[in-house]
Formats: sequence, C-alpha cells, structure tokens
Amino acid sequence: VRDGNGVKGMVDTGISKVPQAYIQPPKEQIDKRNASKLDLPPIDLSRLDGPDHDGVVKEIVKAAETLGFFQVINHGVPIDLLESLKDTAHNFFSLPAERKAIYRKEVSPSPLVKYGTSFVPEKEKALEWKDYISMAYTNDAEALQHWPVECRDVALQYLNTSLEMVRKLLGALMGNLGVELDDSKMDTYIGKKMVNMNFYPTCPNPELTVGVGRHSDMGTLTILLQDGIGGLYVNVPEDVDMENRGEWVEIPPVPGALVINIGDMLQILSNGRYKSAEHRVRTTSTKSRVSIPIFTSPQPTEKIAPLPQVVKKDGVARYREFVFSDYMNSFFGNAHDGKKSLEFA
Ligand code: SIN
Ligand code: FE2
Repeated sequence: VRDGNGVKGMVDTGISKVPQAYIQPPKEQIDKRNASKLDLPPIDLSRLDGPDHDGVVKEIVKAAETLGFFQVINHGVPIDLLESLKDTAHNFFSLPAERKAIYRKEVSPSPLVKYGTSFVPEKEKALEWKDYISMAYTNDAEALQHWPVECRDVALQYLNTSLEMVRKLLGALMGNLGVELDDSKMDTYIGKKMVNMNFYPTCPNPELTVGVGRHSDMGTLTILLQDGIGGLYVNVPEDVDMENRGEWVEIPPVPGALVINIGDMLQILSNGRYKSAEHRVRTTSTKSRVSIPIFTSPQPTEKIAPLPQVVKKDGVARYREFVFSDYMNSFFGNAHDGKKSLEFA
C-alpha cells in the first residue's frame, strides 16, 4: 500500500488471502446473502421539462426525504460518455505504478489532484479495499492543465454535462422548501466540485473486507456512475415510511442510469428533512469494480446553517451554524463511521 501502487498493486503481485490490515471487525463485514435489492424505478428526468413537472418533483422530494438515494435516467449526460468514463477508469488504474504515484498526495504536482488508497489510512482500524484518483475543479483551464492527461477530457465532460442536472435537482429540492435559487444562490451550495475515479480490485475474501465503509457524503449532492458489478448498499433509515426499515439494501446497477445521493450539507440546510444517506460498498472476488462520483458542496469559506425558511416552519434549528471548511476538516480527519460526521453540526 505504501509503495504507491495501492490495493491494486498488492493484488497484482498475487495474494491468496487478505492481509490483516484490511480485515474488518465482524459488525462491519458485509453479508450479501441477507441484503434485499431495492426495487425503486429510476426517475425519468426528461419529465421535468414536460407537463408532468410537478409529478416528477414529488418523486425526487420523496426519495430525498426517505432513503436519500435515487437513480435517474434521461439525465442529459450522454450514454457513450458514461461508457468511456468506465473504460477510462480501468485504463487509469492499469497504468504503471510510477505514473500513478506522481499524484500521491505527498508529492502531487497540483493540489487539485490526489491519488490514494482507502479513505484516511492513518486513522483507520481496518483499511478500505479501494484506490482512487480525485480531481478537484476550479475552472476548465486549470482542469485541463492539472488533471491527469489520461482522464481529464472525459472527466471534465462528465462534470460539465452533469451540472445542469445538479442545478435542476437542487432547484427542485430547494423549491419544495420554499427557497428560490438564482444562479449566485445556487453557487453558494454547489460552488465546489470534484470528480473521483474509484477502483475496487478483486478481493480474495470479500466477506472480510469493505470497498468503502459506512458513511454519508459530506457535501450537497453526489452524482455517481457505477458499473455493472454491483455492491453499493444503502441503509434504510429507521424512521421513514418505507419497506426494509433499518436494513441495508443494494442499489442495483441500471444501464445508462446515474445514482444521486443527498449529502450532509443538504440534510443540514433542510433542517433534517432530506436524509444524507448512509452507504457502503462490498468487494467482489471475480471482477474489479469502478465507480465515478461527482461531489458538489459549498465553498470552504461558506457559512452553513439550516435555512431560515425551514427553521421558521419547524420552530427549531436542528443544527448549529458553522464554516464549511471546519466541517471538511472534521470529515477528512476521521475514519468513515456512518453518520457520525453530522455530529459536528
Ligand atoms: C462511495 O460512496 O464512496 C463510493 C460509492 C461507490 O463506489 O459505489
Ligand atoms: Fe459515498
């Protein structure tokens, strides 16, 4: 792991057993035998522009208020781009170790780009079975200059074609709370953007490891492209009107769809009405998996608190005000631990 070639480098040398450092405590291990597959039809976003606008907004709101996860189709991101993204992710992680190691956080030529493994290895009791490259976005020119040449074009296209959908989704979710967003207000909540490519190598003992441990995402909305392998699980909150309450359900891969999930910031802004979803990833023994998330969040300097419109209705603010950079430091300063990240607020 420390040699800069991640979990993949270790697997490529040929191992028949997971090293001790990756063995999860029993309560974190994922038993796929007793997980239900979630039978929720993807939401067709082309309906947002038609006569059924209000109907589809209702579906989005309901998903945000219950599971905090949903899938969308007709999202405006070209399907062949989704295919290129998955190929590009596989190709990137197949590059020689020296090429990827250039971007390790200790040595990366750009603060925008970081190649790593697990989440916060120095804090984790058991490491996650995952390598990643993360590419922060400031503007197109800097992305083209600093992101790795092997993935920058498709990653940037993915981000730019997704943003229109993100704005529509956030507009709908905020509108439902009685908050109208103009462009600059929109930027308050999604001013910061990042594209990651995750690589989960095959694992000799999937039952002992996790690809990603239980967590919720830190930001506002996450867009996720997953491949056909499967293994993404979401915890159904105890207190919602849904089947499988309190259970882990799998978000099944749907060709051409994107997965959307609510992050901590949107839970806080909505005073708890929208649920930042607790999720985790299983590993597999037969095929490596890739996933490609886009994270949107406020800028670090932004002050965040439950929206006054919602607090007024609710009669109480369920979270305190904080500066987003402080939330980020807390989030990245701790190992994944379910929804504990929200305790900061
Ligand atoms: C994550 O939530 O960190 C990754 C999700 C995935 O790989 O499906
Ligand atoms: Fe996540």
